[in-house]
Amino acid sequence: MTTASTTPSTARPPVKLGVLISGEGTNLQAIIDAIDRDDLKADVRVVISNKRTAPGLERARRRGIAAIVIEHRAFPSREAFDSALVASLRHHDVELVICAGFMRLLSPVMIAAFRDRIMNIHPALCPAFPGLDAQQQALDYGARFSGCTVFFVTEGVDDGPVIVQAVVPVHQDDNEAALAARIHAEEHRIYPFAIRLYQEGRLELRGRKVYIRDASPIGPIANNVNPRLP
Ligand code: GRF
Repeated sequence: MTTASTTPSTARPPVKLGVLISGEGTNLQAIIDAIDRDDLKADVRVVISNKRTAPGLERARRRGIAAIVIEHRAFPSREAFDSALVASLRHHDVELVICAGFMRLLSPVMIAAFRDRIMNIHPALCPAFPGLDAQQQALDYGARFSGCTVFFVTEGVDDGPVIVQAVVPVHQDDNEAALAARIHAEEHRIYPFAIRLYQEGRLELRGRKVYIRDASPIGPIANNVNPRLP
């Protein structure tokens, strides 16, 4: 069980997020925009990048969000780096960790500290095309459709319980940039949507399956995603 509660969803407080990035941070921006539009009740407590030059840091700072750098290179091991992440996320009172283009595999140190409370997004329809270059993998395979997946992070690579997926067509004359742009547009809709489901206490984890309770209307960010809510 992940977020089940008897509290009515409208009465639930904003979910306190810690967002991990390594690069552009367009998914971070989509989350900030959804908050600003009142499509998502969330408070981004901190943005952490493992890269000093990540443009996403500036997106956070522009919005007055604490944006800090924890360089993985400064640590002797993955576990030591993750311990520093955990300490910072706890210091900022983070409830749900959002990996948004964070290019580091998480060790059991992070996963145990935030068990069932870490989301990631992958630019493919999991379990297809895990790991790096997912868009190129889909093109090379000759897939007719690809898409993106929001999931709960587990010890494996891109194989945690699926929360939401969205599908895009793969065109015959596609290149990686064109397919990546099509997928990115869907990512920017489904990531805030998945976080909203969490905030509303509607996600229930049973084994490796995520069930979504109370399929009431949720507005335009739910269009064309599976599950499609009425
Ligand atoms: C996205 O394509 C996401 O699926 C992958 O990393 C990329 C991050 O993009 N995990 P951005 O930094 O949010 O623009």
